[in-house]
Amino acid sequence: MSDNNLNKDEARKRIEKLSEEINEHNHRYYIDAQPVISDYEFDKLLEELTALEQQFPELKQADSPTQRVGGDITKEFAQVEHKYPMLSLSNTYSPEELKDFDTRVRKGIGDDFEYVCELKYDGVSISINYVDGLLQTAVTRGNGYQGDDVTTNIKTIRSVPLRLKGDFPADFVIRGEIFMPVEKFEALNKQRIEEGETPFANPRNFTAGTIKMQDSAIVAQRPLDCYLYFLLGENLPHENHYDNMLHAKKWGLNVPPYIAKCKTLEEVYAFINDWEKERKQLPFEIDGVVIKVNDYSQQEELGYTAKSPRWAIAYKYKAEQAVTRLKSIEYQVGRTGAITPVANLEPVFLAGTTVKRASLHNADIIKTLDVRVGDMVKVEKGGEIIPKIVGVDLTRRPEGTEPHSYITQCPECGTPLERKEGEALHYCPNEESCPPQIKGRILHFISRNAMDIDTLGEGRIEMMIDKGLVHNFADLYDLQYDDLLGLERVITDPESGKEKKLSFQEKTVNNILEGIGASLDTPFEKVLFALGIRYVGQTVAKKLAASFRSIDNLMQASYDDLVAVDEIGERIAESVVNYFESYKHQKLISRLKEKGVKFESETSGPASDKLKGLTIVASGKLEKYSREEIKAEIERHGGKAASSVSGKTDYLLAGENIGQNKLSKAKELGVPVISEEDFIKMIG
Ligand code: IVH
Repeated sequence: MSDNNLNKDEARKRIEKLSEEINEHNHRYYIDAQPVISDYEFDKLLEELTALEQQFPELKQADSPTQRVGGDITKEFAQVEHKYPMLSLSNTYSPEELKDFDTRVRKGIGDDFEYVCELKYDGVSISINYVDGLLQTAVTRGNGYQGDDVTTNIKTIRSVPLRLKGDFPADFVIRGEIFMPVEKFEALNKQRIEEGETPFANPRNFTAGTIKMQDSAIVAQRPLDCYLYFLLGENLPHENHYDNMLHAKKWGLNVPPYIAKCKTLEEVYAFINDWEKERKQLPFEIDGVVIKVNDYSQQEELGYTAKSPRWAIAYKYKAEQAVTRLKSIEYQVGRTGAITPVANLEPVFLAGTTVKRASLHNADIIKTLDVRVGDMVKVEKGGEIIPKIVGVDLTRRPEGTEPHSYITQCPECGTPLERKEGEALHYCPNEESCPPQIKGRILHFISRNAMDIDTLGEGRIEMMIDKGLVHNFADLYDLQYDDLLGLERVITDPESGKEKKLSFQEKTVNNILEGIGASLDTPFEKVLFALGIRYVGQTVAKKLAASFRSIDNLMQASYDDLVAVDEIGERIAESVVNYFESYKHQKLISRLKEKGVKFESETSGPASDKLKGLTIVASGKLEKYSREEIKAEIERHGGKAASSVSGKTDYLLAGENIGQNKLSKAKELGVPVISEEDFIKMIG
């Protein structure tokens, strides 16, 4: 939020100041990895700038850091010609092949030269043009001669500077690789699984998909990063690759530290071998090492083939791969109705485990790879959770195979499948009576991070569904002692293979009912997650619960109300609105409410007007409240929550690690600084 009373001149100054500060913090955070302010404070600076730019659109700078949050929608990416064609590298896979490369180089330029070794980042290549120090365009490789203009999306990547500093050349191109750190990829994938979505195959696919997204606001939320490794232009400061790359760092560009000059082939081998071992420790994926002749005039002498330079080569590490027969393809139905094709394989040993099943992702991938039942398929285990099929050995295709035809009906309930435009997956729309969807939703409801009913498990739920006792999660709360006592289930003893009958005894029944009863204490945010609304994972549920406080408010919220909440995007908003529009869901919720499930956030006492007329700025980490919660709490008591300290601020509520800026501003303006404890006293 900004001070509304700034005049244009003051606003211009403030915008400049804020931009400078934000750029500085961006650099410290994303390039130096040494932030000096909290994420919260950073967001507040950005918020203030956004508000000012909205108020004075004519003052918005072309390189404003607010572009990092995206928002521009591109319908179709413009095609841009590369000033210098984007060549690829030839690959080698063995020391012998590398030796051949070295021999060719020595034949061309003699023995007096140096190599530069770098990591081969496994992402999506990008070519960025800076003109007068400003990021002008960012273009994908495309066909090597022209690519897609993805500038708006690339501008959201915090480690890509929008404006350079220092003695940069007036017009140059720098190339590099966009990637997603593995840990962040895994967290996002985990979230997708929780939300009932199919996980992405690997960080590179996720990155490629993200860069081509039309909505840059979504791109801004994905943790993309970028390393730069190749400089092109007329007036570069040095005559060799290594010095130029180090120099480019001074302009603020994110040049990776994994770079070494090597005199001999032995040193190159050592670099390769070291990183082959070390690469598992890196926070991102690499698929090899790139070896380049350092000196530009020697590069010129060696020249190019049609596709790649003769002065550089990639040494690729072997992905762990195995070949085995595809026995059958089956389809799984998730709780949201999403269909995932799974390959049943002849068991094969791969990277330490026996693999029997692998992901086939979706219909398009099966079609592109032309995977057929009976084929010898290549299975790979990369950074992914599940092994995947990456190709088919066509030379070993048996006779009489048929192209695989993807199912058109749900394998579980027979309903014709649907596939929405632009989505990779097919869905079974039969929410109401498709068995795995019913079961999946109930299992999600009782899961640990949701209602946490640990006295129920998959077996017990299956039994209750089979016996017609439960059809949805609200039915759980109708279960009576007599319904469950003596309920039988036949299980096969894994050791003897014999069938055994089990029946619920008094103790089990009491236990189950107690667990269900105890779940009534589950806080609202977890209940919200338990409902299993598409795209509402734990984090989103928390956000929504903190902002709307009750299911009634949330059900009344419009699409616009929803997207106005920090970090709630269009996709989520749409899904939430759709969910509550359904009569069936409304009914489900009113039944749960009747049973006493919590549909309101806990608040400390009733609302009041104790803070009426007061503007409070909260900053730093608080013990009792999250960022959204403190804002809501101030407002609940009639106050106004602001983000920057100004003449209008009545109190600065200081949490842990509050920034010095805010404190000194408060001191300067005579704004009283209060603690969380003081605040709680104020609201009684
Ligand atoms: S230099 C003309 N350096 O690998 C040489 N490329 O297969 C330009 N890559 O197109 C490329 N890490 O997408 C270079 N340290 C690195 C790299 C790298 C990854 C990618 C890049 C390139 C592809 C070649």
